[in-house]
Amino acid sequence: MKRLKIFLAAIAMLVMAFSFAACGANPGDNGTNTGDGGDKNQTPNEGENKGETDEKILVAYFSATNTTKGVAQKIQTATGSAIYEIVPAIAYTAADLNYNTDCRANREQNDADARPAISGSVENIGQYDTVFIGYPIWWGQAPKIIYTFLESYDFSGKTIIPFCTSGSSPIGSSATNLHSLTPNATWLSGKRFGGSTGQSAINDWVSGLNL
Ligand SMILES: Cc1cc2nc3c(=O)[nH]c(=O)nc-3n(C[C@H](O)[C@H](O)[C@H](O)COP(=O)(O)O)c2cc1C
Repeated sequence: MKRLKIFLAAIAMLVMAFSFAACGANPGDNGTNTGDGGDKNQTPNEGENKGETDEKILVAYFSATNTTKGVAQKIQTATGSAIYEIVPAIAYTAADLNYNTDCRANREQNDADARPAISGSVENIGQYDTVFIGYPIWWGQAPKIIYTFLESYDFSGKTIIPFCTSGSSPIGSSATNLHSLTPNATWLSGKRFGGSTGQSAINDWVSGLNL
């Protein structure tokens, strides 16, 4: 009888040891099923349909002097999104941005038909449900290259969230003036950030969006 008990105890320990080893061999399992709500009845494959159920987010931005770029990167960190820089086909020089003169930026902002060309494109924009659009305020408005960007793709069915940086101006009408460029898109109200905005302030804003 004593021998039988020892034998059974040994079997039990072997089973436990095997179970721990099996868990340890798949450390990524918990990290890849964040969207399944912990439903223990799911088969592993059912928990991996992230492409169908999770929102896919893109942060697209234009930044002439890297201020908006810094904010865009923090939004990317907060959301775990993809990021795309809207790069002008012809880069803006310091002279182009010297708004105290008759500079290129001023001329574009004063021309309703100006659509500065973009270098490159977003790969498969159809995969994104939500698109953050970031830009510097130029004379109270979005730079005309943002108009080029919005007219270049089909945003119908997508949610667009504008953000901007500026010396001091609020986002104001800069975002609402973009709405007519994207038929059937849903625009959330946007936000202006200063260049020194920290990651935690961005995190707070993003979590308040309830994406
Ligand atoms: C042509 C031009 C016009 C600008 N107009 C405004 C403005 O109306 N209000 C404001 O607060 N800042 C204005 N700025 C400052 C920029 O919005 C600010 O420096 C911004 O953070 C720059 O972003 P970036 O580094 O991503 O290009 C203007 C800058 C330029 C070059």
